[in-house]
Amino acid sequence: MSIQPVPQPAFYITTPIYYVNDKPHIGHAYTTIACDVMARFKRLDGFRVKFLTGTDEHGQKVAKAAADKGVPPIAICDQNSQYFRDLAKALGATNDDFIRTTEQRHVESCQALWRRLEDNGHIYLDKYAGWYSVRDEAFFDESELTQGPNGKLAPTGAPVEWVEEESYFFDLSKWQDKLLELYDSNTDFIAPKSRFNEVRSFVAGGLRDLSVSRTTFSWGIPVPGNDRHIMYVWIDALTNYITGLGHPQATEEMKVFWPESLHMVGKDIIRFHCVYWPAFLMGAGLTVPKRVFAHGWWTIEGQKMSKSLGNAIDPHMLVEKYGLDQLRYFLLREVPFGNDGDFSESGIGQRINGDLANEFGNLAQRFLSFIAKNLGGVLPEPGPLNEDDNALLESCHRLLDQCRDAINQQSFNGVLDAIWSVVRAANVYVDKQAPWTLRKTDPARMNTVLYVLAEATRHLAILMQPFVPAAAAKLLDQLAVPEDRRSFAVLGEAHALKGGTPLPAPQGIFPRYAPPGETAKGETAKGEGPK
Ligand code: MSP
Repeated sequence: MSIQPVPQPAFYITTPIYYVNDKPHIGHAYTTIACDVMARFKRLDGFRVKFLTGTDEHGQKVAKAAADKGVPPIAICDQNSQYFRDLAKALGATNDDFIRTTEQRHVESCQALWRRLEDNGHIYLDKYAGWYSVRDEAFFDESELTQGPNGKLAPTGAPVEWVEEESYFFDLSKWQDKLLELYDSNTDFIAPKSRFNEVRSFVAGGLRDLSVSRTTFSWGIPVPGNDRHIMYVWIDALTNYITGLGHPQATEEMKVFWPESLHMVGKDIIRFHCVYWPAFLMGAGLTVPKRVFAHGWWTIEGQKMSKSLGNAIDPHMLVEKYGLDQLRYFLLREVPFGNDGDFSESGIGQRINGDLANEFGNLAQRFLSFIAKNLGGVLPEPGPLNEDDNALLESCHRLLDQCRDAINQQSFNGVLDAIWSVVRAANVYVDKQAPWTLRKTDPARMNTVLYVLAEATRHLAILMQPFVPAAAAKLLDQLAVPEDRRSFAVLGEAHALKGGTPLPAPQGIFPRYAPPGETAKGETAKGEGPK
């Protein structure tokens, strides 16, 4: 009997593709970092992962901006798309591909999807008359609008204009039952729960057919067979998720990764992803994605980010000022994913100094510098384990399952809470066991305590890799864990550290942060003694 290889599970994660009419800010950085943490976690957990991000380049906004500047639209796209590519790199994103909707592969993918919708009888030509917001690239019903000082406004506050033109329509109204069935039979499809309720009641309220082409500007993908029309930018944009896998070809990636997908989006674009996108896919005879998660929005020092306030922060500046790992940690630790958050200097400073420097970094430095000073930098052999040792190690062995449960709900702060409960337990353990006292009274017991701390820290560092990749790597180097023994498969007793291993000289992994003009107080504790 031949042994069948175990198939590798697949995981596909996407960011929204970002509009090129804006410079990258913390909101974009947030989604990209969250997706990167998911991607890294799943890779370490043995999944075959595909992580896609990119830019959304068509539409009236870009056409207008180009006309105002007197340059061709593609010039704006080329320049601004590069900003988002650079941002992904600066954030340490491990995306496998970067898609631009102006690429030929995407034009072919959209046109193939359109043809399939048309062949299946879901697209028809008619006339559109109604309100359109260029800023949202969305149509609105009269009843959704409010009166602003200079005209009517969409629910987002964006101005709307009256549009009357020949247009193709998608028969969205016919998809109400199928969509409700999808939501009700797969309650994991939309998360968090509050968004599920919002989308479900929107669909339950009835759907109108959707205008899916425009004729009054030309910066878009031509409708196949009638290039007076260009496709509605959201058909174009949403299709990127399958273009990235090679659609319309029946590629290996399409087979492996679709529909094992998680679309991570901001709460502002949930309707497009949870109503239009599954309807388009079902209409084209394709399967729908597994899950859409809508996260919250960030304000800056309590204020909404806006062009007029000029308070959008350049994420490159944040990386430079606070450090990349620190920024990644803060954004995912500070608020439960799904809720809104506020970015403040004091908030990030507290997280860096409290959680990272005092609790995590200090834990590692205390025993590593103790080993360097007192044991010639060699990891000691443990003796018999007592109840306290076992309790700490068992809590480490339970961590992977707890982290998996949380990450599968996109509860990043849940993962970090689980990790931190062990960080705190390890700090309590080191204080209670007091190896600096044992050095004189019971050196064999001291060895055991130091070994247990190192083994606990190995678990913590391995699990922290998705969040703080550089610091975790530095810590694993200091524990002499080889690079090929850092995946989640090596968590647990079977791959425990070996006593007698020489360790490299310890170095702090999380420096304290001092606001400009102040100096960092209370450097990471070095050597022996209580904190
Ligand atoms: N191009 C569309 C998405 C098409 S996806 C098929 C779009 N682009 S966007 O650049 O305006 O915004 C993309 C995403 O950036 C938002 O959905 C959200 O994920 C993120 N954010 C933009 N501003 C934000 C905040 N202030 N806070 C948090 N995230 C926000 O919409």
